[in-house]
Order: sequence, then C-alpha cells, then structure tokens
Amino acid sequence: CLPKLVLGIETSCDDTGAAVVDDAGNILGEALHCQKEVHLKTGGIIPLVAQQLHRENIEQIVKEALSISGVSVNELAAIAATVKPGLALSLGVGLEYSLKLVNKYKKPFIPIHHMEAHALTIRLTNQVEFPFLVLLLSGGHCILAVAQGVSDFLLLGQSIDIAPGDMLDKVARRLSLSKHPECHSMAGGKAIEHLAQTGNRQQYKFRVPMQHYRNCHFSFSGLQNLVNKVIIQKEKEEGLQKGELLPCVKDIAAAAQHAVAVHIVKRTYRAMLFCIKHSILSPKNATLVVSGGVASNQYIRKALQILADVNGFAFLCPPPRLCTDNGVMIAWNGIERLRAGLGVLHCTDGIRYEAN
Ligand code: KG4
Ligand code: ZN
Repeated sequence: CLPKLVLGIETSCDDTGAAVVDDAGNILGEALHCQKEVHLKTGGIIPLVAQQLHRENIEQIVKEALSISGVSVNELAAIAATVKPGLALSLGVGLEYSLKLVNKYKKPFIPIHHMEAHALTIRLTNQVEFPFLVLLLSGGHCILAVAQGVSDFLLLGQSIDIAPGDMLDKVARRLSLSKHPECHSMAGGKAIEHLAQTGNRQQYKFRVPMQHYRNCHFSFSGLQNLVNKVIIQKEKEEGLQKGELLPCVKDIAAAAQHAVAVHIVKRTYRAMLFCIKHSILSPKNATLVVSGGVASNQYIRKALQILADVNGFAFLCPPPRLCTDNGVMIAWNGIERLRAGLGVLHCTDGIRYEAN
C-alpha cells in the first residue's frame, strides 16, 4: 500500500507556504516565502500588498515544495488549503491556486481551518493522543481549547480584544524597534524577546490583566495601553520625540514580555484546573500543547513549561519553524482529515469554494 501524500497550501496572512507530507508524518518537501520585511517597512500588513506578494510567489513556492519532494501532482491523494480564518484577500490567492490544481488534476480538496492546523501540528512531530489542552498564541489569535478529535475542539477561552502577537507588534512599533541596531528586520515579538534578554524587567511593573475574572479569557489591549503610557512618560522625561529610540527600551521590552507571560500562564492555569475538575483530562496523562508564532518566544515557553511541570502536565511545543505559519501544518491537517474521513471534497464537475 503506497503512502498517502497531501500537498498543503497556506496563504492566510503574510506567509506563502507549501509542503508535501505523507501519512507517516514525513515532510517530503516544503517551501516558504515570508513577507515580514515588506510589512515591517509599512508599519503593518496592508491587505492589498499581502495579496499581491502572495500572487507573485504562490506558483514558485508550490513548485519548489513539489520539486524538493520529487512528487508529481498526479501522485497526490489530495490538496489541502487554508480557507479560514485570515485576511480574505490573502486566503483567496491560495484558495484560487489550489482549486486550479484540484480541477486540472481532478484531485480531492480539503478545506483547512488555520487554527485547527496550528493545534494539530504537534501530532506530526510527537506522539500525542486526544484529548489534550492546546494554547494557540499568534498575531491574530489567542485560544485555549481542548482538542478532543481532529475536528472536535472544546473552546475554553479566547482573547476578548487583541492577540498577544498583535500587542507585541504594536509595542515594538511604538518603541521603533525596527530602528534598533540589534533588531534589524525582526518581527515585533521577536525584537521584544531579543531586547528583553538584556533588559531588567523589574524597572517597570505592569498590572496583569483580568486577575479577577473567573474564566479562561485573555485581554491584551489594556496591557498595551499601560506600556504605551510608560513609553510616553519616558519620552517626555528624556526630551525625545515619538519615534526616537528610548535608552530604556530593553527594560520596557523585558517588563512587557513578563506581563504577557504571567497573564498567559494565569489563564492557562485556570484552564488546567477546569479540565481536571470536570474530568475532561485525566491527571495521570494530561498534556499541554502550545503553538502559534508567539509560542516561539523562549521566555513565554519557559514560563508555560514550569506551569506544566508544577501541575503534572506533559508540555509539548512544535519546533519554532512549525509554530509560525507554514505549509507543513496545512498538509498534515489534510492527512489527519483524510485519515478521519472528514471534510474531503471530491472533484466531480469542478469545485467552487469561497474563502472565509
Ligand atoms: O502564527 P504566526 O506566524 O501568524 C499568525 O497566524 O498570526 O504568528 C505571528 C506573530 C507575530 O505577531 C509575531 O510578532 C509573533 O508571532 N512572534 C513572536 C516571536 N516570533 C514571532 N512573538 C514573541 N516572541 C517571538 N520570538
Ligand atoms: Zn498562524
């Protein structure tokens, strides 16, 4: 019996990704084009620019992934593409390209939910059975859920405003970190992590959000305002204009990162207690899985690792390159869905599918 092969295509935000993965979890070929540098220059993602860049790169990226894998489109069991959530204009490019291949080669199509793909990536790299607690931290999302099956998630909490990556990106922009000599072309969150390593977090104390809320939700916009206030005050004290680099950026970065980590840890702790109390997870083999772009932050990861250790949870996190957006997670989600017989659309007389 030949291995089943799936091509995965990701274009939900600012990464054009493609990969071929087999049903044993081997990554046969992958390619990725990141637009981050362009978006850093404009101070945020402009959807039309993202769409244009996806259009310019999609064909090359898919061809590269296929050629590295040595697999031809004819040999694929199915083609999977992210259809939601994300920027509609970006999603449309990957979807349109996938459907072109699907209809030309008469292949089954597997629509993928981007967050489901982030949540299941861990089953590609580690042997982990359902159910497990999963925490997704990215630029667009902040979700705590119990993964009970391939497409079966019990939502425990999410951000009531912005996601942690969004907050870190905004703080980084407000601090003009792209001008900092140590942070050349780093994503906002990464720049904060880098500077925080040599900063003193105790110089500033930011109140941790939602401490009196008896649920598992998150909030980051209030925290962002608190950090902004300190930045404005420091600029005044130093006699600097908005946009000029503060001498204390490292300390502010360290304190902001710490507050984000503490907030995330506290909400995740509540979710752990809830799952054990209601027998959703067994205390004997409970697992916490963390993924998404912000999960590549070593400080936040370490804090969550300690939380898991203290509470007897196993702690699993995909390697950083699979935590951020990529085609591999989409192809793997396709394999998971194919194996479970879920949501596979068969091409009879042409598939049409609307993104979002
Ligand atoms: O998962 P992802 O690649 O894309 C989304 O689906 O959003 O996450 C991107 C987010 C950005 O906000 C970026 O600043 C953040 O992840 N990020 C980090 C780090 N690397 C990327 N945040 C904190 N620490 C990092 N090392
Ligand atoms: Zn993502």
